[in-house]
Amino acid sequence: MGLEVLPLHESFVAEVTGIAPTLDVNDAIFKEIERAFYTHSILVFRDLNMSPEQHIAFTRRFGPLHIMEPLQFNLPGYPEVMVVSNVEDGSRPKGLKRAGWGWHSDGEDKIIPNAASFLYAIELPPEGGDTLYADMYAAFAALPPDIQAKILGRRARASRIELHNVHYPHLPALTEQQKRERPDVHHPMTRKHPRTGWTSLYVGRWCIDVDGLPKAEGEELVRYLQDFAVQPRFVYRHRWRVGDAVLWDNRCTQHCATPFDDTKYRRHMLRTTLEGEAPMQAERAVVRPAPHQWVAAAD
Ligand code: SIN
Repeated sequence: MGLEVLPLHESFVAEVTGIAPTLDVNDAIFKEIERAFYTHSILVFRDLNMSPEQHIAFTRRFGPLHIMEPLQFNLPGYPEVMVVSNVEDGSRPKGLKRAGWGWHSDGEDKIIPNAASFLYAIELPPEGGDTLYADMYAAFAALPPDIQAKILGRRARASRIELHNVHYPHLPALTEQQKRERPDVHHPMTRKHPRTGWTSLYVGRWCIDVDGLPKAEGEELVRYLQDFAVQPRFVYRHRWRVGDAVLWDNRCTQHCATPFDDTKYRRHMLRTTLEGEAPMQAERAVVRPAPHQWVAAAD
C-alpha cells in the first residue's frame, strides 16, 4: 500500500496513510509528504510508534529544529522534544501543563516565530483534550475587502510582557530577565508564506494593538480579527487517539488545546518544533487558489 493523502476538512488538514509507523520514509515519499504539508497546512498521522530519535529525525527533514525554552519542559536527554503534559514525576512536573489552552500559533510573540510543530500523543484523557485548528488562509480570504485593505502591509504588536499573566495565570510571573528576553514584537498582520506565497491572517492571542492606529482603534481591530479567525467554518477539531501525531504550519494556521479534567486524568504529549524565519509581510493579497492548482504552488 502506498502513500495516500486524504483531506479531513474542506479547506485544510489531511491525513497521511500508507507509511511506516516510525515515519522512516525514503526521499521520494518524503517529498510527497512535504508537498502535502505545504498545501494542506496540517497533516495527521495515525497509529505511529516513534522513539524520540525517530520523532526528531522526521521533523528535521523539514528544516532546523528549535529548542523550546524554558529548557525544564524538554524531554531529559532530548532538548529538541518539548513535553506537553500534566503528568508529574513525584512532585516534579514532567512537562508544560495547560500549554496552548487558547488560540495561537507557536512563537507568534517571538522575534522569530516557529515555522511548524509536530505533536505526538502518548497518553490521553478519556474525555476532553481535543485540539482545534483554524485555517488562516481561509480566514484572510473571507475577510471583508475593506478590512483586508486596512491590514495589508500593516503590523500589530504582540506582547508576552503584558499578556503572560492573562494567558498563563497558573504560571509564575515573568522575571525581569525573562521580560528582557521576550520584548514586544511587531509582526505583519497579513503574512506571506515563504513556500506557497499565499496570504494568511496573522493575528493570534498575543496581539494587542496595531502600529499606526490609535490604541483603542487598534485594540478593537485586533479583537475583531481574533474572533473572526476562529469561526467554526475555519476550524478542524482533532480528537486524539494514542499514536496520533499532528504536524501543523504555524505560518498559516492557529491552534487551541481544549480543556480536560487535569486533576483526574493524564494527558502526555511530545512535541518537536521547527525553527522559523522573520514573518514576511504580504504587501498584496494572494488568496490560496483552488486545490487543483496547489501542487505547482508548493514545489
Ligand atoms: C500546543 O499548543 O503546542 C499544545 C496543543 C495541545 O496540547 O493540544
